[in-house]
Amino acid sequence: MASIAPSILAANFLNLEKDIEFVNNSPVSHLHIDIMDGVFVPNISFGQNITKQMASKCTKIIDVHLMIVNPEKYISEFRDAGADIISIHAEASNHLHRAIYQIKETGAKAGIALNPHTSISTVQNILEDVDVIVLMSVNPGFGGQKFIYNTIKKIEQLNELRAIHNYSFEIEIDGGVGLQNAEILLKAGANILVAGSSIFKADDPMLAATRLNDLASHF
Ligand code: DX5
Ligand code: ZN
Repeated sequence: MASIAPSILAANFLNLEKDIEFVNNSPVSHLHIDIMDGVFVPNISFGQNITKQMASKCTKIIDVHLMIVNPEKYISEFRDAGADIISIHAEASNHLHRAIYQIKETGAKAGIALNPHTSISTVQNILEDVDVIVLMSVNPGFGGQKFIYNTIKKIEQLNELRAIHNYSFEIEIDGGVGLQNAEILLKAGANILVAGSSIFKADDPMLAATRLNDLASHF
């Protein structure tokens, strides 16, 4: 079964507790938490302390997406804050193989995120080591952007490599995902769909989360 990960970036920051409760009460399995440092990406979100408070209230799998430079420096802090999955960007680390094992040693699952311009071949030599590949389907930094269609080709490519080599990583798609494109992404081989605006900015967020989750449950 594929999974839905609402992105808290699209929530109302004045009401974080309510939004975490909403996620807890919804059928989804993950909560996606975006960490932005204003250097790797143009935007700044929040850090370990707020992550820890959200994670302590949340009953779902905590999926932390680090959009920061020197991500290795903060791995243990985000694990201590409650992360179950920690994803760092391929573009932000010169030693991805080492970083993956640094994440795994904390007990978290290790994810590598790829910006839209980054080829799958960049991570071909570490696909057997990694737990999650996060394909960015927007340029990271902001919620509510338009889905970049070329991502579908990248999903198919990764899915094929996974099948040929019998790798076990999950494919996560992040940015511009909603009911309008979820099915095509799942059919191409995606296992985790991040959904920010399409859930939190929907007229009926519970209905949006439930519909996405129902769709994901068929894959
Ligand atoms: C983008 C973030 C995404 C974002 C997704 O930099 O990594 O997780 O919150 O938001 P939507 O679903 O609104 O594109
Ligand atoms: Zn993200």
